[in-house]
Amino acid sequence: MTEQQGDLQLIGVTKRFGAFTAVDDLTLTVPRGSFFALLGASGCGKTTTLRMIAGLEEPTAGQVLLGDQDVTNLRPYKRPVNTVFQSYALFPHLSISDNVAFGLRRRGVKQYADQVEQMLHLVEMDGFGKRKPSQLSGGQQQRVALARALINRPQVLLLDEPLGALDLKLRRQMQVELKRIQTEVGITFVHVTHDQEEAMTMADTVAVMNAGRIEQLGAPVEMYDFPGTAFVANFLGQSNLLAAEVHGRSGDDLLVEAYGTRYTVPAARARAAEGTVWLGVRPEKLHLTTGEVPSGHQSATGLVTDSSYMGVSTQYLVRAPWGDELTVFVPNSGVAAPLSVASEVTVHWRPEHAFLLPRPAGETHAPVVDPEEVAA
Ligand SMILES: Nc1ncnc2c1ncn2[C@@H]1O[C@H](COP(=O)(O)OP(=O)(O)O)[C@@H](O)[C@H]1O
Ligand SMILES: [Mg+2]
Repeated sequence: MTEQQGDLQLIGVTKRFGAFTAVDDLTLTVPRGSFFALLGASGCGKTTTLRMIAGLEEPTAGQVLLGDQDVTNLRPYKRPVNTVFQSYALFPHLSISDNVAFGLRRRGVKQYADQVEQMLHLVEMDGFGKRKPSQLSGGQQQRVALARALINRPQVLLLDEPLGALDLKLRRQMQVELKRIQTEVGITFVHVTHDQEEAMTMADTVAVMNAGRIEQLGAPVEMYDFPGTAFVANFLGQSNLLAAEVHGRSGDDLLVEAYGTRYTVPAARARAAEGTVWLGVRPEKLHLTTGEVPSGHQSATGLVTDSSYMGVSTQYLVRAPWGDELTVFVPNSGVAAPLSVASEVTVHWRPEHAFLLPRPAGETHAPVVDPEEVAA
């Protein structure tokens, strides 16, 4: 099979509502059989993008391709695409089996009992076929909605915040389940969410969307470890971003200065190698000490202003002399005694755990990103 076959491609896809651009010149390829997550704050254009793939919304410009087929102008029901929404939208008067069988019956398939049983087994709902949707929990209904979509063997399954209505624990459990089911059926999943942890745990590829555009796209580990922009650094997890300037290079390292202190960052960890930059370090890559800084580590002094015990770890805020508060996650492994508020501490990190991102001159405070915030 060539690489092209069966890939989902968006080429220059744009959607305007009047003067407002909801999706702005989106170009991306979702490889066949992959688990792809569209991650972004509420209002950034995720649902509109899915609706254009499903054919429920007509792009103002651009094309949607499935393999070699241009489906841009195909009616929704002619596309080999199914959607699972946040609201389960099961037919309340039909049994679970009849809900799952719906797509097959509509296409005139007469023998469907075995397939329905297989699908209920796939989503671990064996034995529930005779019940009505109202007799199931939210999580169970969402499994049935999934079975009802997958029985049609779509080329692409679109999932629009399908776990959004579930409580946290069930959501985490369903994330693992969804990933297992996707691997088992091998169908391309395009999963929309504003939950960064959800996107990272499930997807092979995550595309971070911001105001109708893709900020960055890649494997979760790579994007988390070395984000491309300040927005991504703070949307995918948290980052400490220090306003810094590049002053030169020494071998494989860049020399930067932040608030009067010189630091080094490996040049391979720089998205910007000159001028004004953000010097970034993840909270779990920062360490705290009241004693010696390990050799080779970079450091800054500060004052503990807050400590939040979170069980697995404690989250400290440390105010640096220049006024910024650094966030530090310290695992509660029982090795070190907890630090109290107002302690003087040294924050330190390994140079290879830092990264440099482009910073517009004049911007000295990192952008704050709230996934729940409506961007529009
Ligand atoms: N039918 C519509 N008419 C006008 N504006 C719309 C319509 N649908 C969506 N929008 C706007 O487009 C933007 C993106 O919406 P949506 O794709 O639903 O975002 P998301 O799913 O990321 O929360 C929002 O500002 C929303 O208000
Ligand atoms: Mg939406």
